[in-house]
This record gives sequence, structure tokens and C-alpha cells, in this order.
Amino acid sequence: MDDTIRIGIRLARPADAGEIAHVYVDSWRDTYANILPEAGLLKMSKAEHTMGWARTIKASNLRNPVLVAADTKQNVYGFASAGPSRDRSLPYEGEVYTLYVAPGWTGQGLGSALLSSVFRLFSKANYRGIIIWALSDNPSRFFYEALGGQIVAERDHTMWGRKMREVGYGWPSLEGLKPTSRIGRGAPLPPTNA
Ligand SMILES: CC(C)(COP(=O)(O)OP(=O)(O)OC[C@H]1O[C@@H](n2cnc3c(N)ncnc32)[C@H](O)[C@@H]1OP(=O)(O)O)[C@@H](O)C(=O)NCCC(=O)NCCS
Repeated sequence: MDDTIRIGIRLARPADAGEIAHVYVDSWRDTYANILPEAGLLKMSKAEHTMGWARTIKASNLRNPVLVAADTKQNVYGFASAGPSRDRSLPYEGEVYTLYVAPGWTGQGLGSALLSSVFRLFSKANYRGIIIWALSDNPSRFFYEALGGQIVAERDHTMWGRKMREVGYGWPSLEGLKPTSRIGRGAPLPPTNA
């Protein structure tokens, strides 16, 4: 029996909200353990985040998408949400709001496949440029540099009473996503059912 897990990228459906919340909360607790206050991380509620993601998915569309990396049994291993940039003072029209891969599934090409699908949708929607904000203390931010993003802005952000520095990675062109060893060098891109 072939028990290979086949993961593809597709638009999120309302029924994915619980799985997305699961990945989101697990990834926050794992990624920000020594960065954000522990009490805040412990208080995160999967039930509340499920309701929040259900609303976000309901309001999503091709210019404001939520994408999941999921298998055929609807298990979600990673997700991304994106839309118009929330900082109109910067010359980047699109923004990736969230990008998380489940702990244990990182480093296998899912993050770059999700990001690549957002770039493809934004290119079709004629967005000019993309920005992604990351905590400067988050070592995962170097992923954006590996994919060709450059630091174009910095800002402070207070999270659960702790002042944090954020860096904005920009791509002025939607063609600027650098290929990685898994995506863009001949490896098949998971289909986006968009
Ligand atoms: C950041 C994240 C989305 C990247 O997704 P991923 O599936 O792990 O990354 P990929 O496997 O697609 O890696 C793509 C490329 O980026 C590089 N890369 C990945 N993580 C990296 C890191 N921490 N530092 C430097 N390069 C990195 C890889 O080497 C790879 O290049 P290669 O294929 O040429 O070797 C994922 O690791 C994650 O969810 N991390 C925790 C949550 C988080 O910090 N999210 C971002 C919030 S702003």
C-alpha cells in the first residue's frame, strides 16, 4: 500500500479553520518560545483562533487569499494569508500577513511553495511588490532572505506588553521570488486550485 502523504497548495475552505488554528498556535508556541512572553503564548486559545480563521476564510478572495498546504484527508501542514499592504506609506502593494508551517514539517519546501503561490496569485491580481513583516529576533526571517527578500523597513511593535523590533522584507517585483532547491528549479510546483 502506498502510504506517501501527498501535500498540495490550495485555497482554504471554511472547514480548514480548526486545522489552521492548530498549526498557528503550535507554531507560535514553538517559534516564539524565547522571544515573546510565555504567559501570552500559553493563553492562546485554539477555539478562539478557529473562530477568527473561520471569519478570515469567509472574507477571503483571490486578492485577499488564505492558502493551505494540505493533504487529501484535509490535514493542514502550513498556511499563508495575504492581501493589500496595511502600510500604505511603503511602495509595496501586497502583504503576506501570516506564513506558518507546522513544527515538524519545516524545511521540506512547504513554506516556499505557499509563498510562491501567493506571488502567483498577486501577479495575476496585478499587485506591485510584496512586503512581509517578521520579528527581528525570529531566526526564520532568514528564510525570506534565502528567497530574495531584502530588508526595506523597520518598526517597533508592542506584543503582550513587550516592545519588539520588526523588519519588513520587500520584493519590488512579483517576479523577484528567488528559486530554492525545491521550487523553481524543475521541481513540480503543487497546484493552486485558484
Ligand atoms: C519560515 C517558514 C515559513 C519557512 O518554511 P519552510 O517550509 O520551513 O521552508 P522551505 O523548506 O520552503 O525552505 C525554503 C528555503 O529557505 C531556506 N530556509 C528555510 N528556513 C530558513 C532559515 N531559518 N534560515 C535560512 N534559510 C532558511 C531553506 O534553506 C530553503 O532553501 P533551499 O531549498 O535552497 O535549501 C517555516 O520554517 C516556519 O513556519 N517557521 C516558523 C514560523 C515562522 O517563523 N513563520 C514566519 C513568521 S514571519
